[in-house]
Amino acid sequence: MSEALANLLNETRQFPPPAALAAQANVTADAYDEAGADRLAFWERQAGRLAWARPWDEVLDWSNPPFAKWFVGGQLNVAYNCLDRHVEAGNGDRVAIHWEGEPGDTRTLTYADLHRLTCQAANALTDLGVVAGDRVAIYLPMIPEAAVAMLACARIGATHSVVFGGFSADALSNRISDASAKVVITADGGYRRGKPSALKPTVDEAVANCPSIEHVLVVRRTGEEVAWSAKDHWWHEAVEAASAEHVAQPFDAEHPLFILYTSGTTARPKGILHTTGGYLTQAAWTAHAVFDLKPETDVYWCTADIGWVTGHSYIVYGPLANGATQVMYEGTPDTPHKGRFWEIVDKYKVSILYTAPTLIRTMMKWGDDIPAGFDLSSLRLLGSVGEPINPEAWMWYRQHVGRGELPIVDTWWQTETGAIMISPLPGVTATKPGSAMTPLPGVVADVVDDQGQSVPNGGGGYLVLREPWPSMLRTIWGDDNRFIETYWSRFEGMYFAGDGAKKDDDGHIWLLGRVDDVMLVSGHNISTTEVESALVSHPSVAEAAVVGATDPTTGQAIVAFAIPRGTTDISGEAGERLITELRNHVAKTLGPIAKPRQIMLVPELPKTRSGKIMRRLLRDVAENRSLGDVTTLQDSSVMELISSGLSGGK
Ligand code: WT7
Repeated sequence: MSEALANLLNETRQFPPPAALAAQANVTADAYDEAGADRLAFWERQAGRLAWARPWDEVLDWSNPPFAKWFVGGQLNVAYNCLDRHVEAGNGDRVAIHWEGEPGDTRTLTYADLHRLTCQAANALTDLGVVAGDRVAIYLPMIPEAAVAMLACARIGATHSVVFGGFSADALSNRISDASAKVVITADGGYRRGKPSALKPTVDEAVANCPSIEHVLVVRRTGEEVAWSAKDHWWHEAVEAASAEHVAQPFDAEHPLFILYTSGTTARPKGILHTTGGYLTQAAWTAHAVFDLKPETDVYWCTADIGWVTGHSYIVYGPLANGATQVMYEGTPDTPHKGRFWEIVDKYKVSILYTAPTLIRTMMKWGDDIPAGFDLSSLRLLGSVGEPINPEAWMWYRQHVGRGELPIVDTWWQTETGAIMISPLPGVTATKPGSAMTPLPGVVADVVDDQGQSVPNGGGGYLVLREPWPSMLRTIWGDDNRFIETYWSRFEGMYFAGDGAKKDDDGHIWLLGRVDDVMLVSGHNISTTEVESALVSHPSVAEAAVVGATDPTTGQAIVAFAIPRGTTDISGEAGERLITELRNHVAKTLGPIAKPRQIMLVPELPKTRSGKIMRRLLRDVAENRSLGDVTTLQDSSVMELISSGLSGGK
């Protein structure tokens, strides 16, 4: 961290916005003044960009912190705002989604098409007995039906819980059970790395342990054989046979819109709850402001998966609320070749690209000649999200994707914040490579020290949010106490984000990564405890400790230390076999994204006198550094034991 910090502080380059973009920008510097003068009036104006069936009586009710209510008394329908109003305004023929399947098949859906499908899906869900307030799990590949399923839930007031298609049956069933979901929407499978990748068997396994599930709706994507039970219904039979007439009812501004699970510092993921009016207000306004979206002319592409919050806010709700045209891609960036992303930019004339540092670093590794082989001249704005972007990757992105001239918006936010919080405004901010720069208008962020005191410029500490914001999480599903403890107890009256941050001499914010036991692997949140629990659930493991080690491509990589049970043979090949088995065991338990890069079999773990594992020392080992201070170890010889007895594996 300290080396990275020193590099960051030496970063003095700064890039003003292109004059042409600044002259036409959706949002200008006035927005900071307006929000500074009256934050609630500012958000009230942004809420006014949406169509409300009933206006609100009060902008913010903060009488019972940290439980916020925004736009109290207001009513609206999210799907109406994302679809019907664009069709009613005469834009039904505008393309909403240019979809590109991994095998190269394509679909084009206009706003009228998306509206029709969503109405049919809403009717089909209603026919299955889903009513407002019910929970619906969604476990789908990146196909248009994923957006349709989410919008159909929103349309009838059902709360969706999207589970990333890479999660295991256990992870899926835990999430279904936590929310008592009534229906799962899934597919036979999707395409990954050039071949069909099944989803339905995982759902079957999960649903076997989930009595709350009454129906499973299955989209046919790959056409592969699937097992069938009395609960199963084909999407193409149920949805495509349903009526396309559906009148959207308005819901209360605080009606639950979705639950999305994110890893915390314990093994149990947190169901982050977002509601209707405030969420849509901020998702829609930030898409308009940060991406400078011009719905008539832009082609926007966010490369995230719908299973993450980025897909919720910046594939589904933000862009569609603005009436934007976007690209949606099903597959991996190197299938069938490493230029696939740039080929898609070229083919659809993408003008705004929103992707993640881990992908940018991967592209860097693959070589400059790959993007150079495509026409990227349609691009006018680049975005980054998910983890701190190192200045080298930022500069590569600007040079090799952005022709050395495009603005980059490095957007800091979280599942919990619902929408972008800290980011440049592309027509206003002179950006610095590696800095998310300043809180957006209407957002009050700060960096504080251990005591919760604001640090001066040049100082570092913890990132906090000092005022409530419209798209803030409302609670952790079913666990108000954990909501209070996790986010509102570290510092009095402030939201604790769990990120380290630094203010530079100009007061600009640099994010420095997580300060808790959450790892950021390819921008995905994975808890060390979750991986540790998965490891000790294997019969050969007595104890395990997991750390996030710096990785040149994925940002952090999972490195695990495992103590084998007494009689386990770990010599030579047997040890290698066990390591392979354990890596697969974690992938099977939690999903492939949680598979450790490396597992080391060790005789002991370094612990303090109070029995706390000293991850700092394990990180030193994982990152091949000389060991830091070992004096607080209960048994200081343990590190020698670990270093000498290491049996590693990649
Ligand atoms: C954590 C939230 C935000 C959507 C995707 C991740 C890290 C996110 C940035 C950024 C530095 C970032 C933080 C945050 N993070 N964006 N631009 N610069 N760090 O959502 O899974 O809830 O993860 O991602 O550590 O706390 P998430």
